Parts: sequence; C-alpha cells; structure tokens
Amino acid sequence: MKKVIVTGGAGFIGSHTCVELVAAGMEPVIVDDLRNSEERVLRGLAGILGKEPRLYRIDCADDTAFDQVVRQETPDGVIHFAADKAVGESVSDPLKYYGNNIGSLVTVLRVMARHGVKNIVFSSSCTVYGDSRDLPVTENSPVLEAASPYGYTKMVCERMLRDTSVSDPALKAVLLRYFNPIGAHPSAAIGELPIGTPNNLVPFITQAAAGLRDKLTVFGSDYSTPDGSCIRDYIHVVDLAKAHVRALGWMAEQQAPLCETFNLGTGNGNSVLQVVNLFEEVNGVKVPYVIGPRRAGDVEAMYADTQKSATVLGWRTERSLADSLRDAWRWQQALAGDQK
Ligand code: UD1
Repeated sequence: MKKVIVTGGAGFIGSHTCVELVAAGMEPVIVDDLRNSEERVLRGLAGILGKEPRLYRIDCADDTAFDQVVRQETPDGVIHFAADKAVGESVSDPLKYYGNNIGSLVTVLRVMARHGVKNIVFSSSCTVYGDSRDLPVTENSPVLEAASPYGYTKMVCERMLRDTSVSDPALKAVLLRYFNPIGAHPSAAIGELPIGTPNNLVPFITQAAAGLRDKLTVFGSDYSTPDGSCIRDYIHVVDLAKAHVRALGWMAEQQAPLCETFNLGTGNGNSVLQVVNLFEEVNGVKVPYVIGPRRAGDVEAMYADTQKSATVLGWRTERSLADSLRDAWRWQQALAGDQK
C-alpha cells in the first residue's frame, strides 16, 4: 500500500492520519473541500511534513470530480473520513446527514469500483453500540437502535460496506469504530478546529479555560456512575491516526473478500468530571464549569474492549489521558497565539 486517498484529510482525524501515513512511507492525497476545516490546518500539516500536502479541493460526493481524482492518482486505497458529525445538528437537519454521509460513501464506492481500487478504511463510531449496558463493548456487541440520524448514518454506511464486500469479492474493507478522539499533534501545528460553539467536551474545556467561553456545562450529574457524570473512552488522536496505518498494513496481508470491524479506544472509561479535574491538574489552569441537566441522546457510559485491535492489528494506545489533555491545551494556546 503506497498511495492513499484521504477524504476529509484536512479534518481533525484526517490531518493527523496524513502525518502518520507519511511517517510510515506512504503518500496521502487529500480530497477535502474545506467546508468544515481551514487553511490553517493545511499550513500546519505542511509545517510538520516539510512540504505542502497534495490536496484536491473538491467534494468527494461529487461523482465527476472524485472520478477525475481517482483516475489521475490511481491510488492503492481510500480512507474515507469525510462526513458531518454533529449529533445535535443531525437531529435538526437529518437530510443533511443522510445526504452527505451516506451519499458520499455511495459515490466513493462507485468510483473505486470503476477504477479497480479495492481497499477502503471507513471512519465509524462507537455510537453504533447505542446505550449498551454490556461494557466494555466488543466488536461482537449488538448494534443497537441509533439515538440520532448521525448515528444511523454510521450504521447504514457499515451495512453498505458489508453488502458491497459481498457483491464484490475483490473488495477489502476495514471499519474502524472510534471512541472519543481528543488531543492534538504534540507540535501544536494541527488539532481540532470546531467552527462556532464546540459540541464536544474537550474543545469546550480548552475554550472555557482560555476564557473564550463563559463556562462549561457538565451535562448531568445524576447518572449511575461513581461521580454522577457520563463516562467515555477518550483516545489521543495520534494513537487513533496510527491505527489507520496499521489497518492498511494488515489489509494488505489479507485475502479478499474482507470486511472487518475494529474498536479504536483505550479500554478505559473516564467521567466528564474526571476529565475536567485532570485537565486543571496537568495544565495548571482553571476550567469554569456548572452542573447542568442531561443532554438528550447521551448514553451513560461507553468504553471499548480493545483486545481485537491489539491481537489482530498489533495496535494499542501509547498516550495517556493526561498526554491528550496537555496536547489539547497546547493546541488551544497555539490558536490563541495566532489571534494576537
Ligand atoms: C458523540 C457521539 C459519537 C460521535 C461524536 C462526534 C454518541 C453516543 N456519541 O460523542 O459517536 O462520534 O459525538 O462528535 O452519539 N459533555 C459535557 N459538556 C459539554 C460537552 C460534552 O458535559 O459541553 C459531555 C457529554 O455529555 C458526554 C461527554 O462530555 O458525556 C463527551 O461528549 P462529546 O465530546 O460530545 O462526545 P460524545 O457525545 O460521547
């Protein structure tokens, strides 16, 4: 596996994955229309890589445009990150999610088939496990009713890949179920760039600590968890990015047909309040917060069983939650430095 098209490569996880692909001797080709990203990430990537990443500024759901890229680049595989991911927005604008998240995968698979590209890695989510009470979740845990249109698009996309790998026995697909990716590259040259008010916990924490937000609201303190706040499996984005490189390497060694699912998490659950407290401790800053009501659609607790990723892919996380929170803060400070 040498040349890989990375849809959504200017995004949070995509950009970190490009860094790790280059470090592993591969050549990422980014396909991203930058609708949910900024030139800053590309500049940061160029700084880390020592050269401009190759970028096609097009929508991968545009069949004609994506076809041209694949024809020109003749990649060995595709990592498909490009998607919308705001759970709340998916409730208020479901058609945006059905159209973009499902439509883009249909196009990507059609174009790949047209040009004989047989390897795809897909960004899925632990959201497919729904409100599982059987923790930690393994890849064999049941896929439960999706709480949001966003979650449902991930279920449909997984199913689409499974069906396509049946209809095309030469296709190899790896479905990566991410838990909660956080942190940033230790260089602070790239990181998460939420547009507008962050929905996710850690960007909200860093912005509240930086004084850009009044205070964090902790969504619920009456869950059946030790401190009453929700539990998640927070994984450093660099560890997550490295898993994609491992997945490509492993795929290359397998015979088609292949459609395999992996959990990408640390295996540890941490509560919202633990994250806030550890952030304050490792960074020496205060996070103003209040306890608020539960957020609709949140599950009480979710964390991964990581045994399959460890034994099959030979991958496990190397960075701690403290590392993640330190890197997230360093990135927030780099952003603040920009604005001065
Ligand atoms: C959700 C999705 C996940 C998806 C991700 C993408 C579910 C169950 N999870 O993750 O699949 O990939 O969004 O964005 O659908 N919190 C606060 N205050 C805040 C923000 C968050 O207390 O201002 C809490 C939440 O209640 C939650 C935790 O922090 O307990 C993490 O929230 P978040 O970062 O939004 O991620 P998830 O909801 O776990």
